[in-house]
Amino acid sequence: MYAVAINASPLMDKGNTSLILTPFLKGMREAGAEVDVFYSFKMKINPCTGCFSCWVKHPGRCIYSDDMETLYPKLAQADFVILATPLYVDGMAGTLKNLLDRCLPLAEPFFEVREGMCRHPLREGVKENGKLVLISNCGFWEIEHFEPLVQHVKAICKNFKRKFAGALLRPHGPALRAMLERGFPVKDVLEAARLSGKALVETGCIPKELEKKVARPLLPKEAYVENTNKLFRKWREDAVKG
Ligand SMILES: Cc1cc2nc3c(=O)[nH]c(=O)nc-3n(C[C@H](O)[C@H](O)[C@H](O)COP(=O)(O)O)c2cc1C
Repeated sequence: MYAVAINASPLMDKGNTSLILTPFLKGMREAGAEVDVFYSFKMKINPCTGCFSCWVKHPGRCIYSDDMETLYPKLAQADFVILATPLYVDGMAGTLKNLLDRCLPLAEPFFEVREGMCRHPLREGVKENGKLVLISNCGFWEIEHFEPLVQHVKAICKNFKRKFAGALLRPHGPALRAMLERGFPVKDVLEAARLSGKALVETGCIPKELEKKVARPLLPKEAYVENTNKLFRKWREDAVKG
């Protein structure tokens, strides 16, 4: 079983996204998967120009030679694709969207109707019915902030013929790191992420109860809002002092 994970946080391994992604991938590896991780923030990926050369002039090949050349064959073969991103302006981080826009060469230009909707067929050799998982964390307290992103990723699955295998969503994500550093009992969240990765490889999906454990409230909303405001006030004061 082969997995490609894209981590779109500019903080890469030091970010809050990685706090959930790392144990999740550990679980996948424990269950026998081979996993490659890519960081979209540091990859050289030009934005799609919308020229359609990859569909018409030289089918399957983009006009650009950049880091997508490494990714195309891996994405085409992956049994599992993991999209890991901080929530940015109610959606995925721009570097991940940019990467996904450049996936046009994996599809054919032609239209077909699947389950009543117009879609593109995939190019020959691109795996069909592989799984896709979303991992995300956000600054606000409520889980509802992820709704537009989850809808977007489910739509991507339909267009790229991948099965949506679940989402690990971590609202008030920055609190997890702060509470781990202060020794609060929140390690169960990391353990649920690890078990989710294991379950994905072993059963093909993430159990709902594990998704719930990863997303569980860590502290009351009022306390989180107060702590966050205190922290930002202090950062500002320190920044002004220099
Ligand atoms: C440009 C930008 C946009 C953001 N937009 C949102 C948002 O729409 N909703 C939200 O709850 N948090 C938002 N956040 C907060 C991040 O999701 C949060 O800080 C997250 O923990 C960052 O993850 P990382 O450490 O892996 O980069 C935003 C942060 C940035 C920098």
